[in-house]
Order: sequence, then C-alpha cells, then structure tokens
Amino acid sequence: MDENTNQVHPAFNMPTLTQVRINRKRGIFELVNNIPHKPYFEDKKSNIVLFLEDCFNVLPHIQENSVDMVFADPPYFLSNGGITCHAGKMVSVNKGKWDISKGLEENFHFTLRWLRECQRILTPNGTIWVSGTAHIIYTIGSAMQSLGYKILNDIAWFKVNPPPNLSCRYFTHSTETIIWAAKNKSSKHYFNYDLMRKMNNGKQMLSLWSIKATGPLEKIYGKHPTQKPLELLNRIVLASTKPGDIVLDPFSGSSTTGIAAFRERRQFIGVELEEEYLKVSLKRLKDAFRERNND
Ligand SMILES: C[S@@+](CC[C@H](N)C(=O)[O-])C[C@H]1O[C@@H](n2cnc3c(N)ncnc32)[C@H](O)[C@@H]1O
Repeated sequence: MDENTNQVHPAFNMPTLTQVRINRKRGIFELVNNIPHKPYFEDKKSNIVLFLEDCFNVLPHIQENSVDMVFADPPYFLSNGGITCHAGKMVSVNKGKWDISKGLEENFHFTLRWLRECQRILTPNGTIWVSGTAHIIYTIGSAMQSLGYKILNDIAWFKVNPPPNLSCRYFTHSTETIIWAAKNKSSKHYFNYDLMRKMNNGKQMLSLWSIKATGPLEKIYGKHPTQKPLELLNRIVLASTKPGDIVLDPFSGSSTTGIAAFRERRQFIGVELEEEYLKVSLKRLKDAFRERNND
C-alpha cells in the first residue's frame, strides 16, 4: 500500500510516497542479458542498471514489449554558439558536442530512430514522455505521429524562476513541453488519476505544471548542463507507473529519472554517452540509497 512519510533527504526536497516492496513481474536483469555491452553499474538490490553507451547500441538488444515507461530528455540541438543568462551572468548556450544540431533532416532521422526503438520495447499499454523546447519538440511530435504513437497530453512545464532574456527582443523563455504518449492507438495506458488529484489538493491536475528549474541542492555532486528537477520526474513516474514497473531513460544524463524511479520503488535502466555524467549519477544514487537505509 502507498502511504506518506515525513522523511526528507536534503537533496531530494520531497518525501517518497511508495513504501511497498518491489513486486517484479519482469526483472531488468533478464531484460539486459542480451545486450553485448557490460553495464557501467548494476545493483540487484536497488534494481538499477546503467550503461555507458550510445543508446543505439543498447535499445535494439532489449526485448520488444518489455518496458513499462520511457522518459527521454534527448539532445535539444540548441548548442549553436548563442548566449544565455545563468546566475545573473552572460554565458554560452552550448551544452556539449552531443547537443550540436546536425541539420533539420539528420535531426529528424536521429529522432525517428530512437523513438522507433522505444516504441518497440514499450509494453502494449506502456507510455513514453519526451521533453523539449521549440528547437526540437516539433520534430519529436512529427516523428511520433508518423510512427503511430497515441499522443495523450502535451504538458507545459512552466519554470517558475526563469533567467531573464538578455537581448530583450523576445518574451522570456519560461516553458518546456513534455509530450506524453502511448505506444499506439489501441493502448490502454495507465494513469494514476487519484494520486495526481490528491497531489493537486483534491482538484484534477492540469497539463500546466509549475515546477522550479533544478536547484543547487540537486547539483551538489557536479553539474549536468541540462539536469531536470527531481520534482518533475517524480510526478512523471508516479503518474504513469506502478511499484515494480520498468522505467528506461535512453539519455539518462545525471540519472534524475533513475533517482525518481528508485525512490518510488520502480526498476530502472539508464543509458548515457558520457562517463562524467554517470559519475554524477552514482553519487546522486548513493544519497538515495542512504535515504532509504535511514527510513
Ligand atoms: C538533455 S541531457 C539529459 C539530462 C537528464 N535528463 C538529467 O536530468 O540529467 C541528454 C543526455 O543525453 C546524452 N546523449 C546524447 N546522445 C546520446 C546517445 N546517442 N546515446 C546515449 N546518450 C546520449 C548526453 O550526453 C546528455 O547527457
């Protein structure tokens, strides 16, 4: 049974809601058996596997119809040499080599490829969440439609505390879109309606989510340039999965999805290209393990 606790680790700013032991219908360890690459990290107790790999070397080896939920925060392809404002200072928008645009056509092809793999591995009633800004979200939406995903919602994530727009020639960028979609038109997707309503003071939760951008307490182990707030992933995991379900993130970065999945007793498979971010992931995960052991 789910129940609330008052235990809050300083890096996590919210209590975990799931206290049940994991009920594994399928285990991630059988699922990753056919992947011809050794995991970077695996832990049978916490039900987490992380790969230091290109997701195109991992996803094709995962059995079809096996993953309950995918969260993907892909490259937005916005690293174009421009400037932005961070902590009151003018800084480059460049996030890393992985975020440089390859041109419209190649970006679309890349997006189509990973979305096709995710669709294949999702269970018939499984769902996918994909985040993006105007740089990529239309490409993602178009690729999803052409693959036959069933779009369930487009969440507008309002970042309550956005940095100012330095050029003063645009409205201040303050939202990201997160598309929530089911595998196909015949999917009967899971939605934890009651919990979402409870979390929204008894009212139906809107598709407009006001959640602050990632705070410094979540970045104490090193910075990922596009780290998502745990509160966002926590809501996504709770809304669309049950304890024991399998969650996969093909672009896992500092493993925000993995931490939300672990804290709410789901299983997690993460794939990330850069070791630097997996090192941050392990430090963050250690905190989450400690939090559980202190319960
Ligand atoms: C937008 S970030 C994800 C950040 C993550 N949501 C977090 O909270 O830390 C995208 C990540 O995908 C990784 N990446 C880019 N291309 C990849 C690929 N082909 N396979 C696996 N990871 C990839 C990048 O290194 C980057 O860390």
